[in-house]
Amino acid sequence: MKGVILAGGSGTRLRPLTEVTNKNLLPVYDRPMLFYPIGLMVDAGITELLVVTGPERTGDLLRALGDGRRFGLERLYFSVQEKPSGIAHAISMAESFAAGDQVFVILGDNLVFGSDVAGAVQRFHRQTFGAKVFLKAVPDPERFGVAEVRGASVLSIEEKPRDPKSNLAVTGLYLYDHTVFDKIRHLRPSARGELEVTDLNRAYLREGTLHYDVLGGDWIDAGTFESLYAASEMARRYATESVVAAEAAA
Ligand code: G1P
Repeated sequence: MKGVILAGGSGTRLRPLTEVTNKNLLPVYDRPMLFYPIGLMVDAGITELLVVTGPERTGDLLRALGDGRRFGLERLYFSVQEKPSGIAHAISMAESFAAGDQVFVILGDNLVFGSDVAGAVQRFHRQTFGAKVFLKAVPDPERFGVAEVRGASVLSIEEKPRDPKSNLAVTGLYLYDHTVFDKIRHLRPSARGELEVTDLNRAYLREGTLHYDVLGGDWIDAGTFESLYAASEMARRYATESVVAAEAAA
């Protein structure tokens, strides 16, 4: 399985912080934001990673990530999406990199703490087709993609609905089989002119191959001032707890 992290976007909601660097390099407690999804990938067994970024401030990304070995990666690749054309379009840029393997995609501003993502990834790895989304109950589902589920099935997914059918946000972590690129080729741009990840997930839903897991622990999309601040507090809490647990075990 290959890893893909999407680190583009102009970060308009975080200006003026994003006037000087890529949003995904802003500090979250003691490290740049992007180090968290990379750590999650490595913990899940990913050794080859592609970072898709926008045309601006790519130099900062290269400097921060280098050849990836400090994270335990064997190979780190970069790809530039010239225009903001949507998450599904950004995923399509990974086609030759994926070379027929499954892909684990994470949006660079999505941070997860205290959840067994690695276990879910390994279970998906043994499955040969389909896709998996990771859901999390939130108080403000209208800000996200929202899934309605019954038992083990996803019934519907809607992007930022005014009247959400559930409180389950679709987080920015996705697992796809090799058919993802064909499915993206069949997508039509949304009203805002982008290829939407929600439409991609719906293609799997229609096919009856969309699975889901509910994330344990905590999840945050650090794309606003408030959530960026909360992400730092959360990262600090988990870092402190793991130090305390390590000391107790010693
Ligand atoms: C994107 C997706 C949305 C998802 C969210 C998670 O939204 O379109 O479905 O719930 O990421 O962070 P964005 O944050 O780009 O508005």
